[in-house]
Amino acid sequence: MESNVARNRAELSGNATNVLNSRTLSSSHKRLAELLREGMTVLDVGCGTGAITRGIAEIVGPTGRVVGIDSNPALIETAKQTYCDISGLEFEIGDIFNLPYKEEFDIVTSARVLQWLSNPLEALNVFKSSTKSGGMVLILDYNHEKISWEPEPPSSMKSFYSAFLKWRSDAGMDNTIADHLPDLFKKVGINDIIITPQHETVKRTDNDFNSRISIWADVAASRGIQMVKDGFITESERAAAEKEYREWINEAVVSQTMYLLAVEGLKNN
Ligand SMILES: C[S@@+](CC[C@H](N)C(=O)[O-])C[C@H]1O[C@@H](n2cnc3c(N)ncnc32)[C@H](O)[C@@H]1O
Repeated sequence: MESNVARNRAELSGNATNVLNSRTLSSSHKRLAELLREGMTVLDVGCGTGAITRGIAEIVGPTGRVVGIDSNPALIETAKQTYCDISGLEFEIGDIFNLPYKEEFDIVTSARVLQWLSNPLEALNVFKSSTKSGGMVLILDYNHEKISWEPEPPSSMKSFYSAFLKWRSDAGMDNTIADHLPDLFKKVGINDIIITPQHETVKRTDNDFNSRISIWADVAASRGIQMVKDGFITESERAAAEKEYREWINEAVVSQTMYLLAVEGLKNN
């Protein structure tokens, strides 16, 4: 069973949604972009505001079907309003552990979502049930312990970041899930596994540098408030991390690389 602590801590709010809107299929789910074909049926679980899901629908076209599911009603409402004119694209409020689909999709994908669950194995079982026989499950996720910055961020942010990882693991979440996905796939009987590194580097010269590098300031401003309530940091530590990280963005940062893997496998039994 998914724990209530994990459910509460997974909830997105405030500035944490900025980064979701800045994502696209071609920049933020590259392996999926390579695999999609016109006419496919695709389920995008934990679709957030639908920025990536929209790109999926554009590739599969009106002869395909794309469903984006998220448990957060506000994000689904935004997705519906923003992309209502794209045919073959549906958004629904729904919970990963209670999906109504049986063998319906060519590809079931979930990007940056299993990192927020205390029971990712059960989620993979549900994804497998929603996939057609012969279809594919494709997960994109992080190993948060393998992030790197050039130069190192301020010590206030490094302390915040390690408190963030503790706050997550305390709720049963796996900070290193990307590297555990192949074993989880084998456990649920998803076969022919392919692993594709999808590490994301943001550099000062990138067009979307500001929205992407701000991720940890946004996390400090949103989830950081909850971390203070939960007793993992003090408010003054949280505020200092946010402020000093924003100054570091303006003055010092050269690049940041987040470690992600795309792991895909087939349902052939
Ligand atoms: C980090 S966001 C990723 C959004 C998008 N897939 C992307 O890559 O930008 C994680 C999303 O998973 C959703 N989520 C978390 N737990 C969920 C659950 N049990 N059922 C459905 N969605 C869930 C959250 O509401 C959030 O929108």
